[in-house]
Amino acid sequence: MAFSAACVALVVASVLTLCQGQGQDTTKTPGAFGSSVVDAVVERIRSRCVFSEDRLFLRRVAHVASRDGADSATYRPNFNGGIWKINETMFDATKACSNVYIRSACNNISSSFGIDWPAVTWSDLRKPLYSGLAAALSTLLTLRSQTMPGSITEQADLWVKMYGEQRETFINNADLATTVECKNKMDLLFLLDSSGSVSSSDFQLMLKFAADVIDAMPISTESVLVAGISFSSSVQIHFNFNDYSTKAQARSKMLNINKVSGGTYTYLGLNRAATTLYSSSAGARSDAKKVVVLVTDGRSSSFSATNQSAQALKDLGTTVFAVGVGGYRLNELQAAASDPICSHVLTLISFDHIQAILDGIQKSTCEANIKVTKTKVVNGTLTNTTTTTPAEAKVPGNKETIEASTSCGILDIYVSTADPKPGPAVHDDRYRATPDAPATLTVTETLPSGTTLFISVVGTRLPASAAALRNCSNYTWTLGVVPKKKITVICKENGVRRPCTNSDVVKAKLCDKKVDSDYPVDNPCTTSNLEKGLLRHPYPYDPTKFLQCDMKGNNYITLCPRGVTFNTRTRECGFTSPGGASTPQANEQDRNSTNSTSYTPVPPVSSNVGNPCTVRALAKNEFYHTHSSDEAKFIQCDEWGKAWVKACAPSTIWSQSHYTCIKKAKASTRTSGPTVTCSASDNYLPDPCDHHAYYRCVHQQATGVVCHPASLFFNPVAKVCGFVDSNAAAIPASCNASG
Ligand SMILES: *[C@@H]1O[C@H](CO)[C@@H](O)[C@H](O)[C@H]1NC(C)=O
Ligand SMILES: *[C@@H]1O[C@H](CO)[C@@H](O)[C@H](O)[C@H]1NC(C)=O
Ligand SMILES: *[C@@H]1O[C@H](CO)[C@@H](O)[C@H](O)[C@H]1NC(C)=O
Ligand SMILES: *[C@@H]1O[C@H](CO)[C@@H](O)[C@H](O)[C@H]1NC(C)=O
Ligand SMILES: *[C@@H]1O[C@H](CO)[C@@H](O)[C@H](O)[C@H]1NC(C)=O
Ligand SMILES: *[C@@H]1O[C@H](CO)[C@@H](O)[C@H](O)[C@H]1NC(C)=O
Ligand SMILES: *[C@@H]1O[C@H](CO)[C@@H](O)[C@H](O)[C@H]1NC(C)=O
Ligand SMILES: *[C@@H]1O[C@H](CO)[C@@H](O)[C@H](O)[C@H]1NC(C)=O
Ligand SMILES: *[C@@H]1O[C@H](CO)[C@@H](O)[C@H](O)[C@H]1NC(C)=O
Repeated sequence: MAFSAACVALVVASVLTLCQGQGQDTTKTPGAFGSSVVDAVVERIRSRCVFSEDRLFLRRVAHVASRDGADSATYRPNFNGGIWKINETMFDATKACSNVYIRSACNNISSSFGIDWPAVTWSDLRKPLYSGLAAALSTLLTLRSQTMPGSITEQADLWVKMYGEQRETFINNADLATTVECKNKMDLLFLLDSSGSVSSSDFQLMLKFAADVIDAMPISTESVLVAGISFSSSVQIHFNFNDYSTKAQARSKMLNINKVSGGTYTYLGLNRAATTLYSSSAGARSDAKKVVVLVTDGRSSSFSATNQSAQALKDLGTTVFAVGVGGYRLNELQAAASDPICSHVLTLISFDHIQAILDGIQKSTCEANIKVTKTKVVNGTLTNTTTTTPAEAKVPGNKETIEASTSCGILDIYVSTADPKPGPAVHDDRYRATPDAPATLTVTETLPSGTTLFISVVGTRLPASAAALRNCSNYTWTLGVVPKKKITVICKENGVRRPCTNSDVVKAKLCDKKVDSDYPVDNPCTTSNLEKGLLRHPYPYDPTKFLQCDMKGNNYITLCPRGVTFNTRTRECGFTSPGGASTPQANEQDRNSTNSTSYTPVPPVSSNVGNPCTVRALAKNEFYHTHSSDEAKFIQCDEWGKAWVKACAPSTIWSQSHYTCIKKAKASTRTSGPTVTCSASDNYLPDPCDHHAYYRCVHQQATGVVCHPASLFFNPVAKVCGFVDSNAAAIPASCNASG
């Protein structure tokens, strides 16, 4: 039952055929709803440059219009508007793709999603992606040439214009949708252009913007740390990551930076950003994602030097946002920014505009993917609650692969080439890593090297009971580019290696057909545990189950009765759940298919008979034993070490040497009826008086034996007991006299 596997390349070719068709894309499932679907749709629309400067408007509308589709009116009959509640009139307007305000967006929908928008029908909008795209187009049509406002109050006006509904509805509900939490550690570096071409009012705008971003961040050594650098003809470091651990300090230092005029050596600033971000003496943390916010007018002294240094910085695994001020030069911003460029380039026009891009940059930086490179392994920490770490990597060359591993947790890994934030709702592939089974992202086998792979690592600690079993102290995980191993798949059952089957390969999570009982578990049914009577053990992945040992050292995953969990202290299913373990998620189907009464063995042996079913006896396959006080009975052990008192058939007694019940009457000493005589050449002779019995000759001495079970007939030719009486001889009348 315990199963563990580590995989390698031989099997991969066949694995891939087994694995086809496991992608998941609920954004195209009619009727799908929920925040993860909405997040996925919005992220797609933004990252594919259909409507990248939406400033969270689409996200907010989804929540306000239909509570992300959870509102029961969302998918009502005769209304097809979906999560974004696009009625038929609004939808029909979006189909005019030649309209100047939506022409480019329509083209991008066609090139990025392969959707010919004018051919879409209203009922398609029951699919979340289509509803979101319609909302994007409808917004662009309503905005016309206006830029998208950022604040909720201004966006509320747009909402009224589009939907004809109450302004307050939007204002009161919109922020619920877009509360941003910076959940992962981030080293955030502001790189400010202080050169002569930037006016002093634009420089003040930059400082105010940077200070406001800092204000919106949770600053602490456990989440976000910031550094500030400016450049002109030279570079000035204003503060490092380890200088300030409070917002107020960092903010005030930022606002007091002086402008120094001079040339625009952007590449110097970028180079210094690289050394600062990856140096522990500057307070940079190895387990934090690295983000640079470059604020500049993009008029550097050397475009190619800027491009080169920006490229090197990004190659280290840094996400670069380029924010343009003044009369900015767009192509330089684009060369500096990370991919997808449209969501990493922003423009800052005036002080009023800061608020408009603040939420967006806060969300974008906080949710930026951590980059895995050949030289940078990502290490994460697991907590009691599930945490998601968004990461990305380039598909490595054919000698390497990407692997995720953990010693004390469970990782669900979602992978996509197209969606920057894959998850349960949207992914091309999913994998699971458990303590003995790292996940190898075999999807890299089929993709050209250099392809960007978006990876979400959703990790949680092993439950306390399982962690205790493994002496866990190190709750970490890693994701990195590793040399490809030679493929070996090791299959273990009950702790013993055995050859693998095809279905093992599937179960080994090369394909991850999710089956609960496939989690690797060390077999706790060791001889020493059995001898100590420790027959029930926690099942590491689910407190509603436990591992029941039989006395032969096999383990069985067994369910506790409905509604109770396994108590690790008493080793019983009880009403107190083990130390803080989660509420059982009962799986009805599992539960019904297993007999939940089997967990309390009642020893059937009466107290005056010792239990001979010891671990050592069972290990030697000694399942039958003499009954100490009654020769017509014997003791039969089962695999659970239970001893069952059994009676021999009438007029037979237990023979330990024959390992069965034998005729009590000694055949060779019969006083009446026919007797049998042993000959050297024939060791088994039929009992002439009883077709259910035979005589066994040992050293010319015949002993009567009854077939076991006694309903069988002795076959004198084959010399075995069988179902059919093949002995044609009639029973002589003289037999009746003897017992
Ligand atoms: C469409 O995509 C291109 C780049 O792929 C981008 O420059 C353009 O702004 C996009 N259109 C819209 C409306 O966002
Ligand atoms: C759709 O919504 C718009 C804007 O609120 C409204 O003017 C129009 O009458 C609605 N159309 C239908 C068919 O309900
Ligand atoms: C991550 O962990 C690995 C192995 O535990 C270690 O070699 C590496 O230095 C760590 N990397 C970082 C960035 O902490
Ligand atoms: C920037 O540099 C990269 C790599 O050095 C190069 O591939 C790219 O074409 C350059 N971009 C521009 C706009 O010159
Ligand atoms: C996590 O769970 C362990 C074991 O159940 C417990 O000892 C620890 O206090 C928990 N930690 C937090 C932060 O809840
Ligand atoms: C934690 O476990 C990882 C392997 O999962 C190992 O590389 C690392 O060195 C361990 N760290 C400590 C502090 O034991
Ligand atoms: C856990 O620790 C105990 C006591 O130190 C030790 O006997 C046992 O072998 C350890 N188990 C594992 C899986 O390392
Ligand atoms: C399991 O059994 C219960 C009661 O015996 C029944 O109500 C329920 O429908 C069953 N579930 C499944 C999935 O068969
Ligand atoms: C469960 O076990 C009891 C007692 O051994 C037996 O009577 C019953 O048929 C079993 N039920 C199932 C579903 O196996």
